[in-house]
Amino acid sequence: MGAALPHDLRCDHRTTPLGVAGRPSLGWRLEGADPIAYRVDVGEVWSSGRIEDPDAICHPYDGPPLLPRTRYAWRVTLWDGTGAARTAESWFETGNDAWTAAWIAPDPHAVEHVDPPTEGERALAAHGLLPCPQLRRSFEIPRAVSTARLYISAKGLYHALINGRRVGDAELAPGWTDYRERLQYQTYDVTSLVGEGENALAVTVADGWWSGFAGFDPRQPGYHYGRFPELIAELHLTLADGSTRVVMTDGSWRTAHGHVRHGDLLKGECHDLRAATPGWDLPGFDDSAWHPVVVTGADHHLLVPSADEPVRVLRELAPVSVTRTGPLTHLVDFGQNLAGRVRLAVPAQEPGTRVVVRHGEKLEDDGRLHTANLRTADATDMLVTASTAASFEPRFTYHGFRYAEISGVERLGEVKAVVLHSDTRWTGTFECSDPEINRLHRNIEWGQRGNFVSVPTDCPQRDERLGWMADAQVFLPTACLNADVAAFFAKWLRDVRDAQSPEGGFPNVAPRLTGVAEEGAPGWADAGVLVPWHLYTVYGDARFLDVDSMAAWVDFVLRHNPGLIWREKTGPHYADWLAPGPATPREVVATAFFHRSAHLTARAAQVRGRYGEADRFHSLASGIRTTFIKTFVDPRGAVMGDTQTGYLLALAFDLLPAALARRAAERLAELVEENGPQAGFLGVNLLCPVLSATGRPDLAHALLRRTDPPSWLHQVRNGATTVWERWDGEGAPSMNSFNHYAFGSVGEWLYTGVAGIAQAPDSVAYRELVIRPLPGDLSWARASYESARGRIAVSWERADEDFRLSVTVPPGASATVHLPDGRVHR
Ligand code: BGC
Repeated sequence: MGAALPHDLRCDHRTTPLGVAGRPSLGWRLEGADPIAYRVDVGEVWSSGRIEDPDAICHPYDGPPLLPRTRYAWRVTLWDGTGAARTAESWFETGNDAWTAAWIAPDPHAVEHVDPPTEGERALAAHGLLPCPQLRRSFEIPRAVSTARLYISAKGLYHALINGRRVGDAELAPGWTDYRERLQYQTYDVTSLVGEGENALAVTVADGWWSGFAGFDPRQPGYHYGRFPELIAELHLTLADGSTRVVMTDGSWRTAHGHVRHGDLLKGECHDLRAATPGWDLPGFDDSAWHPVVVTGADHHLLVPSADEPVRVLRELAPVSVTRTGPLTHLVDFGQNLAGRVRLAVPAQEPGTRVVVRHGEKLEDDGRLHTANLRTADATDMLVTASTAASFEPRFTYHGFRYAEISGVERLGEVKAVVLHSDTRWTGTFECSDPEINRLHRNIEWGQRGNFVSVPTDCPQRDERLGWMADAQVFLPTACLNADVAAFFAKWLRDVRDAQSPEGGFPNVAPRLTGVAEEGAPGWADAGVLVPWHLYTVYGDARFLDVDSMAAWVDFVLRHNPGLIWREKTGPHYADWLAPGPATPREVVATAFFHRSAHLTARAAQVRGRYGEADRFHSLASGIRTTFIKTFVDPRGAVMGDTQTGYLLALAFDLLPAALARRAAERLAELVEENGPQAGFLGVNLLCPVLSATGRPDLAHALLRRTDPPSWLHQVRNGATTVWERWDGEGAPSMNSFNHYAFGSVGEWLYTGVAGIAQAPDSVAYRELVIRPLPGDLSWARASYESARGRIAVSWERADEDFRLSVTVPPGASATVHLPDGRVHR
């Protein structure tokens, strides 16, 4: 087994990040023997000292304030029982906490408009799509450069080049936050892009979420945060002689429009190559005919270093077919519904030829693109050619699509779908003997790819793409198994807290934008408590638990509902959204979540050592439970409404005493047997877990393998390559997305149920595993998971009467293994 080895060192849940702020959390994974003690050292600056804790996998930096723009080496030492010590090393770099650059904008009107848009202006925001400005400046570097860092952000989106070469590989940067509260900047190591002599920094900016179209409210389609894109950047150079220089955005920059005639997240992008300005991104370019930029301000207080990995191009797909559908029209099928864009090579054409790319998730019966479900998202990109062959890929937009219709040219060059999403490392694998279940698992993974784009979204295709909080909350357990989403959700939790009202109310969507109901609904707003708790249990970092924010939410609901039934302040109350069966009574749904949030807030307070609050929220939770039983549960265990989701919430949230819980579980089983699944967004993630936990894994399997609608495999049998918004995929096109992950939350149970990788109820960061494979009629399954502690793997197979199981457990973890015949091994 060897010594206890630390590996995969992470700072604030990222590998060697640039731009760290504050006191980062330093984490590691384990290999080899069980550790008995650890120590963390950050350079010569700070040491945790040796700590006798066999369970630890992270420790917050607790030394003196870190210097800005500085690289720190750090290391973890682990001791095992033999006294052997092993060390692993990594580094992180701190961010720019002392900005001096100015915000600059190309549009003179921007100076008059530094205040956020008014309601009336937002209403008028059906603005024409404007060209994306180019901004540039040349500068001299007197001698060789030893290090160079670019700190950069935009109100809008930016695409930066130094001496004609792309800076970094982030897409849609700086990402989406509520820009009234917080604006992320990115840090790039650009040492290899600069050099002695004249250099050029060249940036194109676009509206993005800042001033472009976002969301679905026809009264406020755009201009959510501002009117014009603006840029800020500082390039810090350390030269070979040790001297330093800073090149920054200021009034000396020049601006002009170029070939990007517009770029909008929902509407699409247009490049007119006849308007290109060749060489503008290179030194030596004469920009004297360009306009001076305007300086719009020098406020830096909202700038924060980005907390997660950016959106990147993470895959490319070749078409499975390209069909000529007219003299100048082609239909491309990529075989996979995805979020991203098309990259297209266009052979030389008559200058001014318009090549139009439209996108759709499905085809109509007559073979045309189905675009009705995009609503006002035009999702249309255009290239206007100059005289030479060209390659076209938009930069400031993305679309949800499987098919693209390309028109305007007789012949196409190479066509690729470029897949974009927030870069979260994949941690899970799952496979079993049923190929349709494997397809379902892949569809769930694709749903995650398509909807983790800077924020967790509901869907990537229509004019919505918002950080809907229930969708995120129900899918989170699945997401955490598929990928390491710690940093992604750490960033989003800031968005959630930014969106919390001064009274404590959480909203329905985060980041907040204007026009969407701000008062949160049960199960949506509660994500502000459920998400941090789940992240803590998966990743073991207690910093996810912001007890003040969680407590403020629960107290908000309590203040308006002192009788402990949640009736007031339920926002738009979406109840059990898109449930196909009878509706679960709203008060039952709401009060169950009220209990859940109070209970988890109590546990979070306990973890953070705030025992007084822990007691208070524990008694509140127990009061809500008693009131729930008194008001909604009859002596035979029937929960008011007699719906699947009513029973699921009551059982999963432990709202019933044992005897009533038994009756409720029986009734749930009857309802599932009679009707198949009838849960909507708030119950679907609980269906298989609750059925199997209450002794009916057979029924959970029956649901999983059911092919009649409503069912998961009905989608698979009908050609789904992602998970649909509605169980049956039927319904008005205006609300019928084919890439919505909420119903994909069954993905969790593929790992925890079918394969049997789960942690014990009170375990944190997979310290105590429960390996309980539930084979159903399957003949084999295998799954693996790179947990925060280390690698977990299960593989089982049935041959005649034999059940063969192999299990890998990470160091420092214990496992209880339950075999299908009832035997238990510890
Ligand atoms: C979104 C959902 C969201 C819901 C609120 C829809 O339009 O697409 O996924 O949770 O609104 O009920």
